[in-house]
Order: sequence, then structure tokens, then C-alpha cells
Amino acid sequence: MFDKILRTNTFEFELIERASGSWIYDVNGKKYLDCESGMWCTNLGHNHPTIVETIKEQSSKIIHRNKGFLCPITIEAAEKLLDFITDKFDKVTFLNSGSEAVEFAINFAKKITKRKNVLSLENSYLGAFGIARDLSFTSSENEEFKLEFPVCGRNECENLDRFLQKAYKVIDKHADDIACFVLEPIMVGGGVLRPCSKFIQPICDKMKEIGALVIIDEVTTGFGRTGKKFGYELFKITPDILALGKALGNGYPVSAVVTKSDLEAKLTSSELYYAQSHQLDPLGTSIAMKVIEVFESEDILEKLKPKIVELFSFLKTLSHPSIIDARSFGFIFAIEFKEYGNNKTKELILRIKDSLLLEGVMIGFSTAKNLIRFLPPLTISDEEIKFLKQKITKVLEEIKSSELDTNPIP
Ligand SMILES: Cc1ncc(COP(=O)(O)O)c(C=O)c1O
Repeated sequence: MFDKILRTNTFEFELIERASGSWIYDVNGKKYLDCESGMWCTNLGHNHPTIVETIKEQSSKIIHRNKGFLCPITIEAAEKLLDFITDKFDKVTFLNSGSEAVEFAINFAKKITKRKNVLSLENSYLGAFGIARDLSFTSSENEEFKLEFPVCGRNECENLDRFLQKAYKVIDKHADDIACFVLEPIMVGGGVLRPCSKFIQPICDKMKEIGALVIIDEVTTGFGRTGKKFGYELFKITPDILALGKALGNGYPVSAVVTKSDLEAKLTSSELYYAQSHQLDPLGTSIAMKVIEVFESEDILEKLKPKIVELFSFLKTLSHPSIIDARSFGFIFAIEFKEYGNNKTKELILRIKDSLLLEGVMIGFSTAKNLIRFLPPLTISDEEIKFLKQKITKVLEEIKSSELDTNPIP
């Protein structure tokens, strides 16, 4: 059926036709609760009416223009975004994808520092191409610069010193040639892990000490996903550059790099020069601006608080012989499994994913990290949360009883 589509991914059998709020509808009219928010993008729910209206209005005026010109909406969006961020940033450019934003941020830091090495944390996912990909857990490049870190909740923070000494060794060895440290505040693709803040803070301090910059990859953690506006607020750090994407466009491909004018001032115009066809295009920037307006006017962060508690408590009550951990950070949830009965871990995860899909729930999963994942829209309703809880409970119960039928307790 998909034979004309390049196999860049494994595709589910169901064909998707439309979406609204927390729901996706297939071509047969069956609806699914989208607990991955697309690709972790639709924090405000699919096809938010205000965003759809903005797209209609802006595209009837102008979608695209030559790179030598700006539109008023782009300037307004830049001001809106800078006002929205609590820390002092005063420069922004709008791009198209998260990967592009992280890549841009790293190259910017390299040019400013005139250095070439870049640090990240192991298990980070920073992008699909270039240096951002090389620094991700999906690549075997750059291993020396992917720092091991203590994971919160695994008693590893107690061994903080061991992790710090190991990291300092790498940093000290390359101190003159480290351009920046790129931090994904919560590793989402890499296993839903939170690095210990007692580790992050000294590493960021060390960057300042050696003249390197701190870049925060907020592509997934930005715009409320962690329960804060931005994920870096989980730590006491002062970033130099932020890379934003995903929720900035609520499903539309717009991203941004945010930084400071004193850093920009270190570069000549030719060093700064960057041009791609859709950078700063008015359609994307009008959407980004409206996303921020809706985020504020609908008081998304405040309304999210009880939902975080509700789903966190539910996860903690789950008891199933195959579950080895259930964890969450803000509105990022994961359940980690081990093999169970006749099911190897990978089969079990695929079975849960498929059963939930049949029940009308789309979830994320990683057979490499042995987990299923939920990053629902932040606007998910109480009724929808109830539906999700019922379906997870049902599917886990069914797996338990089918195992008992095939392997009855003697
Ligand atoms: C933390 C993080 N950074 C960067 C990216 C890349 O963003 P995009 O897929 O929009 O290029 C992703 C994508 O999942 C991500 O999770």
C-alpha cells in the first residue's frame, strides 16, 4: 500500500485523515486519542481554532517572501517570543525545524568561540542531521564528548562526584577547544530521563569558566511540556542560546534560535550570514506568535498542574508484573517494561502499542529503551485523561489474564 513512499520509517497500517483537539481520525472515521501530540508538537491540541484562523488569514495575505525583506508580523513575533521568555534574551531568528535550530545554534557558538568541539549528554537527541545528529544517542560519532550523567530517581545523584570528575577530565583535556555544551533538559527520545541538577549546574559553570557557551535544546521541553515554560527552568543556569521548535508551531514547521546581542556583536556580517528559503517567513512567524498568545490567554501552565498530578498518581498506582518503572517529568510520561510470560520485552511493548491503537489510543514507544511513552496535548480534558487511564488499565489487565490463561498458576 505504501510502496511509493520511501521507507524512511515504519508506518502503521491506519491512514490518517484529520485531527481536532486531542483526537486524530482515520480515513474510516475511527478516532484515536493522540498521546504523542503528533511528534510532541501539538501542545495546544490539533487544529486549535485560533491557529487555524491565523493560518487562513496570514496565507490570504502573504506566505513567503525574499530573504532580503521582513514582514511586520515577523518583527511582532520576535518581540512576543522575547517577552515570553523570562530570562534576558534580545535576539531571535525563525527557522523551520528543531534540527535546523540546534544546528544553527551550535554553528553560531563555534563561530563566536572560534572553537570546534561540542559537548552533549549521552542519551540526548538533538537532531536528524549534521553535528546535532552526531551528538545524539542515535549516532556513534563524537562518543568522547557525550558526557555520562547521573539520572534522577536512580540513586545516581549520590555518585555525583564520580560523574563530575569524569566530565571534568574530558572538559579539561579539551578546554581550549570546546565551543559549547548542548543540554536537552529532559531526554525524551533517549529514554525519558532527567539529569541531576547537581551535575548540570557545575558543568554549566565550568563552561563559563573556560569561555564556552551553554545551548539549551528546548525543542521538546519548551512551551509547558515540563510543567514550566521552558525545561531549563528546572536548573539554576543561565543559558546563552535557546533552540526552540515543535510546540512553537503547534504542528506547523517553525523553529527559532534565541540569543543575546552581545554574542551577536562578536560576529561580522559575513560570519553571521545564513540564508535558507523559508527562514523568517511570515506564515510560520504568524503561527508562532499566535501560539504564544494562546498559551498565555488560555493559562495553559496553570491549568496543566492538576493534570500532571492526576496522570503522575495514576502511573504510580499501576501494578503489573512486567512494569519495572513508571516515571514522569511534567507532562512527559513513560512506563518501562521487562519481559513477561511468553512475551519478550520488545514483543510486549509492540503488543501494548497495538492493543492501545485498537482501543483508540495512540502512544509512543521505544523498543530500544524498553518503554511506552505519553506526551499528550497540554489541553487534554479530564474526560480524555479518564479515557486514557481506562484504556491503559484494560490493556495491561488483558495481557495479564491472557498470560495466566496460557501459563496458569499451578
Ligand atoms: C530535543 C530535540 N531536539 C531536536 C529535535 C529535532 O527536531 P525536528 O525533528 O523538528 O528536526 C527533536 C526531535 O524530536 C528533539 O526531541
